[in-house]
Amino acid sequence: MTLPLLRRIIDTCSRKKPLMETIRQCHTHSELSRVLSPTELVLLGIGATVGAGIFVVTGVAAADYSGPAVILAFLISGIVAIFAAMCYSELAAMIPSAGSAYTYTYAGIGEVWAWIIGWTMILEYAFAISAVAVGWSGYMESLSAHAGIVIPAVLANPPGVDGGIVNLPAVFSILGVTLLLIIGVKESARINSIIVIIKIGVILLFLCLASGAVDMANFTPFLPFGWGGVLSGAAIVFFAYIGFDAVTTAAEEIECPERNMAIGLIGSAVVVLVLYVAVAAILAGVVPYNELKNVAAPVTFALDRIGITWGSALVAVGAIAGLTSVLLVTLYGQTRIFFAMARDGLLPRIFASVHKVYHTPVFVTLLTGGITALLAGLLPLDVIVELVNIGTLTSFVIVAAGVIILRRTNPEVHRPFRTPLYPIVPILCILTCILLIAILPLITISRFILWMIAGLCIYFAYGARNSLLCKDGEQAGSKQVPVPVDPDSNFGEVR
Ligand code: ALA
Repeated sequence: MTLPLLRRIIDTCSRKKPLMETIRQCHTHSELSRVLSPTELVLLGIGATVGAGIFVVTGVAAADYSGPAVILAFLISGIVAIFAAMCYSELAAMIPSAGSAYTYTYAGIGEVWAWIIGWTMILEYAFAISAVAVGWSGYMESLSAHAGIVIPAVLANPPGVDGGIVNLPAVFSILGVTLLLIIGVKESARINSIIVIIKIGVILLFLCLASGAVDMANFTPFLPFGWGGVLSGAAIVFFAYIGFDAVTTAAEEIECPERNMAIGLIGSAVVVLVLYVAVAAILAGVVPYNELKNVAAPVTFALDRIGITWGSALVAVGAIAGLTSVLLVTLYGQTRIFFAMARDGLLPRIFASVHKVYHTPVFVTLLTGGITALLAGLLPLDVIVELVNIGTLTSFVIVAAGVIILRRTNPEVHRPFRTPLYPIVPILCILTCILLIAILPLITISRFILWMIAGLCIYFAYGARNSLLCKDGEQAGSKQVPVPVDPDSNFGEVR
C-alpha cells in the first residue's frame, strides 16, 4: 500500500462532524414534528422491548441454559441494559438526533466509526424486526388454530422447515406495520400506546393468575448448569432487552428532548427489567425448568399447565399485541437510522427523503419493510435471531466509549443528563457487553465479522467518497450544505 493512499485512508477515518454544529442542527434543522410526550416515550421504549424475548426466549433460556436461575440471567442482562440506558441518556440528551448512536459517534469519535455503528444498527434492527415477525406468526398460527382456522404449513414456514415455502403471516405483519408508519408518527405512537397498555395488562394478568401456583420445590436445584449457565442464559435473554434504545431514534420528534430523553430511556429499561424478573420468577416457580424444553410459548404453557386455559388464550392475544408493538417501534427506529446516514451523504439521498403529504420518510420505510418482510418470510427463526444480540452489544460498547471520549474531548458542552458514577458506569457497560459477546457462539461472532467487512467495503466504495464532510472538506462541517429538492418528485429532501 502506497504512503499517499494510507494517508488518505487515515484522513478519511479521522473525519469528524463538529459537535456544536451537530447539536445546533438537531434543534433547528429537523423537518420532523416534535409531537411525542414523555409518557408516550416510555411506552415507545416498552413497546420496542417487551416481545419475543419474554414471550418466547424465556423457556429456551430456562430449559437449555440457566434452569430456575433464569431469574438471575434476566437480572444480569437487565443491569447491562440499564448501564447502556444511562450512557445513551447522556449522549441523546446532549445530541438529540434521529440518528441515535450513529450521530453521537460521528461527532464524538469519527466518520468511519459512525459508519460502523450505523451498519451494526442496520443489522441489529433488520434482523430483530424479522425475528419478531416470525414470533408473531407463531402466536398467530396457534391462536387461529384455537379458533379452528388452520394456516397450511406451506404458507406458515420458510423453505426447509415443515415443507414451507414462505412464512406469510410474518410477511403480512411487517407490511401492516409499514403502512402504519407511513401514515405518520403521531398516529403510530397512539396505536403503540394502546398496544403497550394491553401488553403490560396481560403480563400482570399472568403474574396474578400464576403466582398462586408457585411451588418452591421447582427452585431446587437453583443452578443446575452452574454460573456458566447463568451467564450463557444472560447472553441469550439479552435479546429481550433490545429495543429501548429505539427511543433515541425519536429524538427529533420529542417534546423537550433534553429532559424527556433520559425519562424515556431509563424509565422503559427499569420497567422492563422489573416485569421480566417477575415473569421469570413466577414461570420458574410454576413449571419445572426441564419441562420448558422446546416450548415455544412458555407463558401460555404455564397457564395451561395449572388449568387456566381462558387465561392462556388471553395471554396469547396480548403476546400478539406485544409483538406488534415491538415491530412498530423497531421498524420506526430502523428507518430513522437510514434517514440520518443518508442526510450525511453516507447513503444515497433518496434514503433521507420525506413525503410532502405524510411528513414521514416513505421511501426508506417501504424499503425497510420490504427487505425485512422478505427475510422474515424466507428464513428460519434461529438463523435470524443469532446476529441480533451481537449487533446490539457492539452498539452499546461504542455508545459507552463515546460517553468517555466526549467527556475528555468536549468537557465544556452542556450535558442535560450526566451518566451517574462516571466513569464507573460506562466502563462497566463496556466490560459487561464484551463479556456477553464473548459468551456467544463462535459462528455468530464470525458472521458478524463478515458483516462488518462487507460494511467497510461499502463505506470505502460509496460513503467515504460521498459524505458531505468529504465533499466540502473542512468547511462542510461548519456550514449546512443545502440539498436540492426535486420539483417533479412528491418527496421533499431533508435539509
Ligand atoms: N426485545 C425484543 C423482543 O423481545 C426484540 O422481542
